[in-house]
Amino acid sequence: MPQQVEVRAPGRVNLIGDHTDYTGGLALPLAIDRQIVVRGVDRDEALLTLTSDQDPVPASINLPAASVASIEPKWARRVAAIAAELGRERGFIGSVESTLPIGAGLSSSGALGVALALALGADAGRSRLEVALLCQRAQQAATGVPAGILDEMASLHGLAGHAVLLDCHDLTVEPVPLPAGAEVVVRYVSHRTVAGSPYSDRVAACRAAEAVVGPLRVASIEDLSSLTDPVLLARARHVVSENDRVRQGVAAFRAGDLDAAGRLMTASHVSLRDDYEVSTPDLDAAVEGLLSTPGVYGARLTGAGFGGCVIALAEPGAVKEGWVVHAVDGAEVVSGGSNYYRAP
Ligand code: GLA
Repeated sequence: MPQQVEVRAPGRVNLIGDHTDYTGGLALPLAIDRQIVVRGVDRDEALLTLTSDQDPVPASINLPAASVASIEPKWARRVAAIAAELGRERGFIGSVESTLPIGAGLSSSGALGVALALALGADAGRSRLEVALLCQRAQQAATGVPAGILDEMASLHGLAGHAVLLDCHDLTVEPVPLPAGAEVVVRYVSHRTVAGSPYSDRVAACRAAEAVVGPLRVASIEDLSSLTDPVLLARARHVVSENDRVRQGVAAFRAGDLDAAGRLMTASHVSLRDDYEVSTPDLDAAVEGLLSTPGVYGARLTGAGFGGCVIALAEPGAVKEGWVVHAVDGAEVVSGGSNYYRAP
């Protein structure tokens, strides 16, 4: 009897630092207590079959997986892309369960990729960083969107009770303890997918700005004065100021200065709304609603924008509508697979 493997991979919320990862900037996500679980066993037939509690249509992939782009249902593209990245030839039959809302900007797709990669053997001899990079390549192949590495890094490197400071250039991770006396509340606003959104357009704008001023991750606001196109200038200004807000935010969280942390989160939302133009009227209204709630330190959209969720940093119990998320450890091979990815 082949041994059953079980893997869990958490979703994430990003406290601050959005649309910074693909220019090698900074972000401060936490892995949350909503997750994807993949269970399954190897089988002889060269077929990868997965059922999902989120879609009545299973993913069924002939191995080795070849072209990914036209596979249906759409979530099966991610499955095929992960199998292709791993060069997986041995079959597998299993299931996917999710407590993460799908298409809510909490990285359900990122968590699916990570859980699946570990279940299909990526854990053997690969570091968490290597798995994150593999999953990022698969995500890009599956969607055609040049997404950054935030979601995969958060899912793999989360730490209970902590946010993690990601440097997306050096690919380093630094835990930042979450202060007692505040909670992170998520409020769902609307469904969205990054595929088909203007995300790629924002990546292109950053590349165009960098062709003029050099890497945005090391640029200052003054360095941007040579950008004559007002749209490129605004996009670049968001990235440069957001990296700065992450630095300041980390200091504020470490000092337990919740007022300062909240102010920075709200300023991040304003920048994403006005300079980066990835918010929506519904996200803005949800943020305004949270900011007018007593006990809220700050609020913002989280993730790519264009819909999804907003988050608030708030006094415990202050926000009634939404759900409190807790920071958990990164992805784990619960049984089967390699001990390296087992929780201590
Ligand atoms: C999506 C992408 C990430 C990141 C965020 C915005 O979640 O997958 O790589 O760019 O948007 O911060």
